[in-house]
Amino acid sequence: MIRDKNIMVGVTGGIAAYKACSLVSSLIQQGAHVKVVMTEHATQFVTPLTFQALSRQPVYIDTFDEKDPEKIAHIDVADWADIVILAPATANIIAKLANGLADDMLTTTLLATQADVYIAPAMNVHMYAHPSVVDNMKTLVERGCYFIEPGAGYLACGYVGKGRLEEPDRIIEAIEHHQKQQSLLSGKIVLVSAGPTREAIDPVRFFSNRSSGKMGFALAEAAAEMGAKVILVSGPVTLKAAHPNIERINVTTAAEMYEAMHVHYASADIVIKAAAVADYRPKQTFEQKLKKQPGDWTITLERTQDILASLGEQKKGQFLVGFAAETSNVIQNGLAKLKRKNLDAIVINDVTKAGAGFAGDTNKAVYVNRSNSQIDMPLSTKKNMAQDIMTFIAKDMKGDLNDGR
Ligand code: CTP
Repeated sequence: MIRDKNIMVGVTGGIAAYKACSLVSSLIQQGAHVKVVMTEHATQFVTPLTFQALSRQPVYIDTFDEKDPEKIAHIDVADWADIVILAPATANIIAKLANGLADDMLTTTLLATQADVYIAPAMNVHMYAHPSVVDNMKTLVERGCYFIEPGAGYLACGYVGKGRLEEPDRIIEAIEHHQKQQSLLSGKIVLVSAGPTREAIDPVRFFSNRSSGKMGFALAEAAAEMGAKVILVSGPVTLKAAHPNIERINVTTAAEMYEAMHVHYASADIVIKAAAVADYRPKQTFEQKLKKQPGDWTITLERTQDILASLGEQKKGQFLVGFAAETSNVIQNGLAKLKRKNLDAIVINDVTKAGAGFAGDTNKAVYVNRSNSQIDMPLSTKKNMAQDIMTFIAKDMKGDLNDGR
């Protein structure tokens, strides 16, 4: 993955800059071509000559120090790079990149590059937890940057906690893993539905359910990170889709979701129905707000269409995945749903289990495919589970599920 790649290493002014020397050395030993760009502050910790000797390339610090009159250095380096690694990344460089500042060689190059950007932060534990740093990191993730989390341990400032630059070999491993994952779904179109639907009774009242949309959004983000183009059909939720490859379509009712899913179905390679679609809607929707009356109020409900079943009927090569929330005979009921709706795989939640189900950040489920291969997914964050599910799907499509890992 790293061999023959052009890698720009951005070194910023933190004590962990000394570890960037081993990082550059390891990258070179693994066959990468490396150019180092330093901030002025970084040169307080390590001399440019060290990086020049390790990379056997000139080191860039000053935007106006043009080494070759035929080229504009920051654009040249930005275009040359396949991968950018910021290590160590201080709170300052994270803030500058999140806000588009370009006041030195490193920041101008970062704005100009189209390469994949990996950021390995290193700072004091309280700085790392500061809301502005957290917000800036979130912004960068939403724009497609990938963070390599710092480890916990002794920090140069004397504190013990999270903030220590990840070890150089672990940084390279994380990048290799991410590059591999990124290509798993490249060229694929993934259609995901998420969240609840709302079925209006009158202009101010509706029937809905507790779905937060978190699982569906996590799936959309995982698919986008694996290189897919994602169309996310979302019911009313408060979430933001955090990836530039996600096109979001907002719907409210089951009928609108049916329409949106069918419009995009033909062009999709993978379709995942993680939405909690209303099975019933009021038979009549009142145009004016209903005034309360003495006595009871009965509302007649009628069935909505089963979107997933209709997609199953019209399937032409799409890999169709459903979700099932079960409380008893979990696997049997899930498998019956898979067959009834002509699915390729189903993710079955036992919603009686702690940590599984609707509103929380965690889930616990089983992935089952048409040939009855089953993979248990232990309790984990919806984000991690979504990455696992997308990996299973990518492998399953190639007939290579095994144990999925
Ligand atoms: N689903 C759908 N359209 C509906 C209802 C459900 O597309 N009107 C999809 C869900 O998005 C999910 C799957 O069907 O992927 C399973 O939904 P669920 O409600 O658990 O199962 P049902 O098949 O409706 O069966 P039951 O209510 O009997 O459990």
